[in-house]
Amino acid sequence: MKIGIFDSGIGGISLLHEAMKKLPDEQYYFYADVDHVPYGVKSPEQISEYVEDIVGSFVNMGMDAIVIACNTATAVAADIVRKEFSIPIIGMEPAVKPAVNRALKTGGKVLVMATPVTIRENKLKSLIERVDDRHLVELLPMPGLVRLAEMEKFDGEEVDAYINEQLAVLDRSLYTEVVLGCTHFNYFKPAIIKSFEIENSKVDLVDGNEGTVRYLARVLGLDLKENEKVDNIEILDNIEILDSINVSYYESGRLVTEKEKLDKFRRLHQRLELVNRL
Ligand code: DGL
Repeated sequence: MKIGIFDSGIGGISLLHEAMKKLPDEQYYFYADVDHVPYGVKSPEQISEYVEDIVGSFVNMGMDAIVIACNTATAVAADIVRKEFSIPIIGMEPAVKPAVNRALKTGGKVLVMATPVTIRENKLKSLIERVDDRHLVELLPMPGLVRLAEMEKFDGEEVDAYINEQLAVLDRSLYTEVVLGCTHFNYFKPAIIKSFEIENSKVDLVDGNEGTVRYLARVLGLDLKENEKVDNIEILDNIEILDSINVSYYESGRLVTEKEKLDKFRRLHQRLELVNRL
């Protein structure tokens, strides 16, 4: 099956990575809208225009399904493109429900990190209304992480300073669950965990990639490779397995062929392999 996956930038690679591991026999087309990243601080009209263009070009390429690997684009434009195009379009929403269920057991609170647009949009508000009757959820915009991710700065002083600055308004010891409500945030798992440890808080990080891939499989009638538990395989061996999967990368419509850029995507898969083992 031909599966088109897109995001404003590199965040969506985290969804692609999960899909490649669980559904390795499919043909993937990953589109990073590098000309327009970041989406999370733009107007809904602007974001909808970008999303309509990308979905239109994926439809012309004959995709069997499209995944919007971007919480921001989903919040603003998923309903619009679903009306316009008749193929399955799968969106991503912050994984609030599993986080609330876990927090009900731990007795802690849930912090949802996302872009300012995702936080402002009604989709997230109505999701929280539906699943958070105990009012455990708080929201925190983290747009700076998108900029840092696009520069491949996932650790170090600048990253720690930004995260700590954003978290300074909160009592970190109250939280046990952090929802990564933007696909770009997956790269920062070590730094986010560390910033909570400063106040002796041990948090679980919850992202929506696994649930989205499971839903994609269901929509396409595919079987997931659930037994691909690869934590005991060396990271590079795993990356070699991923290398054998059929993926084409596009940057705002242009097929990526340059070695330097393809090396960058490979580096990002390595990073994800590392952080997903935490
Ligand atoms: N990765 C995107 C998300 O999941 C958006 C990042 C951005 O472009 O602001 O929301």
